[in-house]
Amino acid sequence: MREQLEQLKRDALQAIGEATGEDGLQDIRVKFLGRKGQLTALMKGLGGLAPDERPVVGQLVNSVRDEIETSLEAALLSAREQATIERLKSERIDVTLPGRRDICGTKHPITLVTEEVCDIFASLGFSVAEGPEIEHDWYNFEALNFPPEHPARDMQDTFFVDNNLLLRTHTSPVQIRTMLKQRPPVRIIAPGTVYRCDSDATHSPMFHQIEGLMVDKGVTFGDLKGILTIFTNQLFGQKTGVRLRPSFFPFTEPSAEVDIACVICNGKGCRVCKNSGWLEILGAGMVDPEVYRHVNYDAEDISGFAFGMGIERIAMLKYGIGDMRLLFENDVRFLRQF
Ligand code: FA5
Ligand code: MG
Repeated sequence: MREQLEQLKRDALQAIGEATGEDGLQDIRVKFLGRKGQLTALMKGLGGLAPDERPVVGQLVNSVRDEIETSLEAALLSAREQATIERLKSERIDVTLPGRRDICGTKHPITLVTEEVCDIFASLGFSVAEGPEIEHDWYNFEALNFPPEHPARDMQDTFFVDNNLLLRTHTSPVQIRTMLKQRPPVRIIAPGTVYRCDSDATHSPMFHQIEGLMVDKGVTFGDLKGILTIFTNQLFGQKTGVRLRPSFFPFTEPSAEVDIACVICNGKGCRVCKNSGWLEILGAGMVDPEVYRHVNYDAEDISGFAFGMGIERIAMLKYGIGDMRLLFENDVRFLRQF
C-alpha cells in the first residue's frame, strides 16, 4: 500500500509537470484527487490493513494528497499567469495611433456671416423679413424703378423662368413686399439667396445678399452712413479701411457703394480686389420717391434708406478666402476650418 501511494504520488507529480494550461491541470486533479479518483480508490483498501497500521498509512495518504494539492496549486497559478501574459500580448494596443473622432458638422462660413450680420442689425432694432427666390419681374425690377427695356436691367444678368418669372437677382424685391404689407416706420433686414449669370473669383451665379430697409419720418443719408459705420466697425473692427463711392441704382437717389480694404493683399492689390486694394461689399442709398409711388407711401411725409450687401464677399474678407468658388465646392478640408 505504501508502495502504491508512493507510485501514485510520482505519477501525479509527473503529470502535473507535463500538463499544459489550466484545463489540463483540472483534469489531473479529477483523475488523482476526485471522488472517483485514484487516491480515493486506494483509500478503500485502508479497511483491509491491520489496525495499528491504519493511522500510519492514513497519515501517509494525507501527506500524499497535500503534496499533490500544493504542486497542483502552484502549477495552476503559473498557468494562469502565463495565460494573462498571452492575452495581454494578443490584445496589445498602440496608444500612439490617432483616435477615431466622431464626425461633427460645422456651420458653413456663409451661415456664420449671415448670423453675425443679422445679430448686429437685430441689436440696432431691425427685424428679419423674407421673400421668394422665384420672383415676378414686377417686384424684382418694375416696382424698383427699372422700366421694361431700361438699360439698368443689364447691370444684373438675369436667369428668366418665363416672360414674367425670374430667379431674383437681388434681395431688393423684399423691400417692395415689405412696404406693401406694412406702413412706416419700417426697419427690416432680409437675408436670402440670389442668382445672376456671372462667374469668376469674385462672382458666383448663386450667391447671398442681405437687404436692409429703414423708412420713417426724417431719415437722412447721415443715418445711413451712421448705421453702416457701426455695422462695418462691428464686423471688421475699427482699423479696417472703409470707403463710400458715389454710384447709381434706379431705386435709390443718391446712391453709394461701400468698399472694404482688401484683407487678402492688405490693400496692395491682388486678383481678388482686381489690383484696386478695395472690395465692394454693398450698394446703398436713399429710397427713390418713385419706389414709394409703387407701394403707396407718401414721399412728402417719410424718407428712408436701403442697402444690399454680398455675403460671400464679406466672408472672403472676414476669413481671408482668396476665391469665392471655395465657398461652394464644399470640400470638407476647407469647411472644417470654420
Ligand atoms: C444690388 O444688388 C442692389 N440691390 C443693392 C442695393 C440695395 C443698392 C438697396 C441700393 C439699395 P449690386 O449688384 O451692386 O447691387 O450687388 C450688391 C452686392 O452683391 C455687391 O456689392 C457684391 O458684394 C455682391 N455681388 C454682386 N454680384 C455678385 C456675384 N455675382 N457674386 C457674389 N456677390 C455678388
Ligand atoms: Mg455693385
